[in-house]
Amino acid sequence: MKLILLGAPGAGKGTQSANISEKYGIPAIATGDILRAAIKDGTELGKAAKSYIDAGKLVPDEVVIGIIKEKLSSESCKNGFILDGFPRSIPQAEALDAMGVKMDCVLSLEVPDEKIIERMSGRRVCRCGASYHVVYLPPKQDGICDKCGQALYIRDDDAEATVRKRLDTFHTQTEPLKTFYAQKGILVTVEGQEEVADTTAAVLGALAAVKCD
Ligand code: AP5
Repeated sequence: MKLILLGAPGAGKGTQSANISEKYGIPAIATGDILRAAIKDGTELGKAAKSYIDAGKLVPDEVVIGIIKEKLSSESCKNGFILDGFPRSIPQAEALDAMGVKMDCVLSLEVPDEKIIERMSGRRVCRCGASYHVVYLPPKQDGICDKCGQALYIRDDDAEATVRKRLDTFHTQTEPLKTFYAQKGILVTVEGQEEVADTTAAVLGALAAVKCD
């Protein structure tokens, strides 16, 4: 299965990609995680990306397209993959087409903006990639990752003012992808404002229904 997860910042793409990855045994490629790791490591990529992420803007297309080209050429992607956070603009989607990658399904998680603002204030993340919510998806031990035991932290770009800028960026640059993929006949929309377990059931049900498996 080759799947794109679309959705606003905080719609639950990372949460659901972990579930799908486990069920189907395919890797999830999250451009946001890759960029944050590069920032933490102080690489040239990280230095180039930081100001855009802090401002709630998209990192330039050529930068993320290069990341995706490299990832998709790896052995681990040969049986399928999940793209979480890519493409995020029409030029990025066209670049994916130009790479000759034929996606099976584009799943869009639908969550209204005000719900997103509420969710982001409670998000806690781990450097291993795991994501929690203080109310909706709490770790077993407060502030500690269930998976690796590291301390959880709040992302800099989860400040409310930055979340609002990220939502603007989503509506202007990313949301047009819904029409782009609907025209290709591979768009599936799933309601993402229910509880995590209910959303997971809806996502897995939708994937089974479109025979992505
Ligand atoms: P990225 O890291 O991809 O951020 P995002 O798309 O804004 O998405 P998030 O990771 O914030 O949210 P999510 O949808 O994964 O939600 P989550 O599952 O964590 O990108 C960051 C930045 O990098 C971008 O702003 C941009 O600058 C740059 N970038 C990345 N990719 C790029 C690209 N292709 N091109 C250019 N620039 C790029 O859930 C959110 C919270 O809600 C969690 O606390 C979770 O526990 C909780 N939650 C999840 N589901 C539910 C539910 N059903 N009910 C209640 N709570 C829930």
